[in-house]
Amino acid sequence: MPTPNGSPVRIAVIPGDGIGVEVTAEAVKVIRTVGDVFGRRFDLEPLPWGADHYLRTGVAMPPNGCAMLRDDFEAIFIGALGDPRVPDNRHARDILLGTRFELDLYVNYRPVKLLDERLCPLKGRAPADVNFVVFRENTEGLYVGVGGRFKAGTDDEVAIQEELNTYKGVHRIVKHAFEYAQASDRGGRSASLSGERRRQVCMADKSNAMTHGHALWQRVFKELAPQYPGVEARHLYIDALTLLMVQDPSQFDVIVTNNLFGDIVTDLGAALQGGLGLAASGNLHPGRTSMFEPVHGSAPPLAGRNVANPMGAILSAALMLEYLGLTHEAAAIEAAVQEAVVAGQGTQEIGGTLGTRETGDYIATLIRHKGH
Ligand code: IPM
Ligand code: MN
Repeated sequence: MPTPNGSPVRIAVIPGDGIGVEVTAEAVKVIRTVGDVFGRRFDLEPLPWGADHYLRTGVAMPPNGCAMLRDDFEAIFIGALGDPRVPDNRHARDILLGTRFELDLYVNYRPVKLLDERLCPLKGRAPADVNFVVFRENTEGLYVGVGGRFKAGTDDEVAIQEELNTYKGVHRIVKHAFEYAQASDRGGRSASLSGERRRQVCMADKSNAMTHGHALWQRVFKELAPQYPGVEARHLYIDALTLLMVQDPSQFDVIVTNNLFGDIVTDLGAALQGGLGLAASGNLHPGRTSMFEPVHGSAPPLAGRNVANPMGAILSAALMLEYLGLTHEAAAIEAAVQEAVVAGQGTQEIGGTLGTRETGDYIATLIRHKGH
């Protein structure tokens, strides 16, 4: 979806709760900086949805909220949602899962890229060894809330949570993974975070135990794989995948899996790249208004202390610009984050001495100095 030069790019910005507010401020700073440097106009509209708003009004978002996001904006940026004052975090689920489900953002795109050797918890692993992408199915699976509790709170309680797998839902995410691998193999993707060649698609399920739902994943994978002869198709059970991700992450290019497994393996992926503070994500429906957010949560204990790492949010902004067709802007952001990480300029958990704001300033300054 390339945006014509000149007309402003409309982006809804939901800082949310806790550190979400602080990291979003830095992502916004960096977006404005690339806007100046590359001569792009961004219309960044802040939306106040989060715990404060929920506690004040009793609603997480207005009833037409998702339609408004879809119709009035080209992309959505979310900081993080979750607050101890809302014990069941209802508002967080309503906004985050609401956006994913109502906008049908079926691709959760989570690149795992080690920017500096020093940050990898594994011995002797270089950036070339940790560089893959995960496509997590984002609209069904165990997240759909089908089920219920019977005799809740008693010794006889029964709790049922059903996993939903549809042919359409499995097909479109597995297809997306193959298309992505094929396009990158042909050099079809130019930008930064997805610029490498991806030759293999690894589908992970638990079809040895979940013989109904995951038989459907097997069926779809076997149907689609032959249509992409240039892409190696590989299957792993999810438990084996987690083992191999730790033993030798260099063997992975593209991983595709269901909603819950994708949730879990992308936290593992975040650990491999240096922690949740660095992990970025895009919630996509190709061709439609999509949503971008760091993988981390609102981290209440860190909130308001200027210690949270804004790089995951800033890299999510880069994914957003790349999705909008602004590949040079995206590449400039990624290069600046990489340079800051390598120079040891960042927050404490990645070995730096900077605060949240100072990290954002540092990255913005690098982008300004490099110029167009
Ligand atoms: C994530 C988060 C969410 C998820 C939570 C907050 C519901 O962990 O985006 O990975 O499980 O999808
Ligand atoms: Mn998660």
